[in-house]
Amino acid sequence: MIEETTIREALPPTAAGRVRQVLARGGAATLVVDASGMAKADAEALEQDIRQHLGAVEGISEVRVALMADKPTRRIIAVGSGKGGVGKSTLTANLAVALAATGRKVGVVDADVYGPSQVMLLDAAEQKPRANENTLIPVETDFGIRFLSMGQLIQPGKAIAWRGAMVGKALGQLMSADWGETEVLLVDMPPGTGDVQLTMIQQHRPAGAIIVTTPQDLALIDATRAIDLFNQVGVPVVGLVENMAGYVCPHCGESSDPFGQGGAEAAARALDVPFLGRVPLAMEIRVASDTGQPPAANPGPLSKPFAVIASRLAAWLDREGSR
Ligand SMILES: Nc1ncnc2c1ncn2[C@@H]1O[C@H](COP(=O)(O)OP(=O)(O)OP(=O)(O)O)[C@@H](O)[C@H]1O
Ligand SMILES: [Mg+2]
Repeated sequence: MIEETTIREALPPTAAGRVRQVLARGGAATLVVDASGMAKADAEALEQDIRQHLGAVEGISEVRVALMADKPTRRIIAVGSGKGGVGKSTLTANLAVALAATGRKVGVVDADVYGPSQVMLLDAAEQKPRANENTLIPVETDFGIRFLSMGQLIQPGKAIAWRGAMVGKALGQLMSADWGETEVLLVDMPPGTGDVQLTMIQQHRPAGAIIVTTPQDLALIDATRAIDLFNQVGVPVVGLVENMAGYVCPHCGESSDPFGQGGAEAAARALDVPFLGRVPLAMEIRVASDTGQPPAANPGPLSKPFAVIASRLAAWLDREGSR
C-alpha cells in the first residue's frame, strides 16, 4: 500500500502547483494534473516527467495521469447581409481559410437551409458528418477547417419545405456539434433578417457579426438594416466588408467600378462601424469558388484582400477576448 503523501513527495518540481488531485489505491497512483495554458508538447513532457519520477518509487506499480486542459473559448462570428447574393458564402469560406492560415482553429457552419453553398466552396461534398450518440462530428476539409452544413442534414434532391421550428432545431444540431478545439466558428447566414437570424441571435449568442455588402446604394440600405438588427439585440458588429468592389478586366487589366466606389467605407463611417476591407469583383474568384478552391488558399493577388480582413477579425477577437 502506498500513501498519498509518498506520491506527493515523489513528484518532480515541474509539477508544482499543477496537481489537483492524488489518489492511492493499492499500488496504483492516480493524478489529476491541470495543464491549462500549456502547449500540447509541454503538457506531454510534464506527464512523462511525472511518470518517470513516480515509476521509480518502490511500491508504485502503476501511474495514471489525467491531464485537464482549459476549455477552449469558442466564439461565434455570424457573417450576414441584408441582401442575397452579395458574397456572404464566398467571404465566409475565404475568411475561414485566411484565418486558419494565421494559426487559429476555425470552423464553418453553413446555416443557409435554402441554398447551402459551403459544401461546394470548401470542396466537402464527399465527406459526410458522423454522429456520436446525438452529437454531430464536423467533417475536416482540405483547408484545415472543420465544417458542418444544413445541406448535410438534407437528402440530396429533396425539396426543402422546412418551417421555422425545424430550421431552429437543425441549426441547434450544427451549433452544438462536437467542435473540439475550434476557437472561431464562422456562421454563413442566409440573407435577410428571418427565422435563422433570430434563432441564431437568441439561442447561440454570436460574439460578433460581419456584414457583407456590395457597393451600390440599394445593397447598402439593406446592409444598414442588417447592422440595425444586430445592434438592437446587442451583438457587436465586427465590421462591414465591401465585396465586388472594383472590376479588373481580365483582357486589358483596366479597373472599373460597375457598382460604384467607396460607398461601403463611407456607409461604415456614417453608421459608426469599422470597415474591414474590400474584395474586388474578379472572374477568378467565381471560377475558383465553383471548383472548391478558395482563392484565399492560393498565393496570389486574390488571397491578399481576404488576408487583410482576417487580420482585422483576428485583432478584434484578441481585443474582445481580453475584455
Ligand atoms: N468578389 C467576387 N468576384 C466574383 N464573383 C463573386 C465574388 N463574390 C461572390 N461572387 C460570386 O457571386 C455569387 C454569389 O456569391 P455568394 O453565394 O457568396 O453570395 P451570398 O451572399 O452567400 O448569396 P446568398 O444570399 O444566396 O446566400 C457566386 O456565384 C459567387 O461565386
Ligand atoms: Mg450564401
